Parts: sequence; C-alpha cells; structure tokens
Amino acid sequence: MNILVTAGPTRESIDPVRFISNRSSGKMGYAIASAAHSRGHSVRLVSGPVSLPVPSGVDVVSVESAAQMHAAVVESLPKCNVLIMSAAVADWRPGTVNTRKLKKHTMDGCLLLERTTDILQEIRPLKGDRLFVGFAAETHDVIAEAERKLKEKGLDLIIANDVSARDSGFAVDTNRVTLIDTRGNIERWPLLSKTEVAKRLLERVERSCCWTRP
Ligand code: CTP
Repeated sequence: MNILVTAGPTRESIDPVRFISNRSSGKMGYAIASAAHSRGHSVRLVSGPVSLPVPSGVDVVSVESAAQMHAAVVESLPKCNVLIMSAAVADWRPGTVNTRKLKKHTMDGCLLLERTTDILQEIRPLKGDRLFVGFAAETHDVIAEAERKLKEKGLDLIIANDVSARDSGFAVDTNRVTLIDTRGNIERWPLLSKTEVAKRLLERVERSCCWTRP
C-alpha cells in the first residue's frame, strides 16, 4: 500500500528567531513510517522539525508550519491509500509574522494569535475510500475526547494517548494507547515500545484494508 504518515510538531513563526510549537518529538510517527517500510509498504513521511534520523527507504518531506504540512498532505494524498496523522499540528499561529526580530522594549506582552488550518477537517472531502487514522493527545477525558475527534474529523480509527503520563506520550520511547474505531470498539493496549505500537497499528491498518503481506 501507499502510506502517508505525518510526524513531529509544527512551528509557527513569531519573528526570525522565535516560534510557537509543542513538545512532540516525532518518535511515534517515525516508528510508524519505519515499520510501514519494513512491512513492504511505500511510505511518504511529512515531517515537522525533529531531531531524528531519516528512516531508511522512506520518502521524507520536511516542513515547518501547519500551512506547509497542510500543503504537503494535500499534494501527497492522491497517491496514498492510507493516511496516518500522528503529527502534533500547532493549533494557533501569530496573526502577524515579523520579518525583523522583535525588540523587547517594543513588546507589550500580548501576542495576537489566529487558528491554523485543521488539516484533517480540510481534507475530509478528499478522503474517498482511503483509510484515515488520527491521534488524540490528551491530558484529561482521554477516551471521550478521542471519540469526539474520531467523529468530528471523519476518521476510521483514532489512537488516544494520555500525554500527561510519564511513560507515554511526548519524547519517551514507550506509549500506552487506546484504539477506537467507528464501530465503537475500544482496545486498550498495554505499555509498549513505540516500535511495537507502530507494528500493531500497521497490522490493524492492513486488516482494515484487507491487505496481506506478499
Ligand atoms: N490535527 C490536524 N490539524 C490540526 C490539528 C490537529 O490535522 N490543526 C490532527 C492531528 O494530527 C491528530 C488529530 O488531528 O491526528 C487530533 O489532534 P489533537 O491535537 O489531539 O486535537 P485538536 O484537533 O488540536 O483538538 P483539541 O485542541 O480540541 O485537542
């Protein structure tokens, strides 16, 4: 299959030296891209800024902002059967991007923000028969929030994870996730390495697409 994966954070510029971002390390998305390649899929990885080696055999498109990630996803979508949106896309960006470094004596401490594009919402009309998988990074009401996002974003599958736990979520090598599908099935997986989560997720995606390894 042709699998499109997004990973990492996005960065939204304030000026040439400052930005708004989040704590995503990209580890989960990179593990998914690597696992997909080793299972024989053709993989494109749209990656925000991370400090991880490029997974071998994977076509990486590097982006910085949510707008660039949106454009790269729209450009890559026609060739893919499966989209796995594991990126932590920034939800806000500064209303104005300054081309010169802001000087502290000119700042009153307020930064006006505007919403970035919700990539999954925007591409919903382009879904067709593709399988769309989302992630829900939550600190509370984890399952309820993930179920809401599954419906609102028109996904087939969502992976919920509690990012407030030390051993799951941002920057660590393990994750404890719950898979929720549109039939209301809720599967709680134990604490696993991100590599193992990626492998199990791909097995699940392959089953959903009735794909068998050649
Ligand atoms: N996502 C997206 N575009 C955005 C924000 C998020 O496509 N601008 C995707 C993420 O890649 C993820 C899913 O939507 O697959 C859920 O992201 P999450 O950050 O958990 O939720 P939000 O949509 O940002 O909602 P909230 O702020 O209410 O938690």
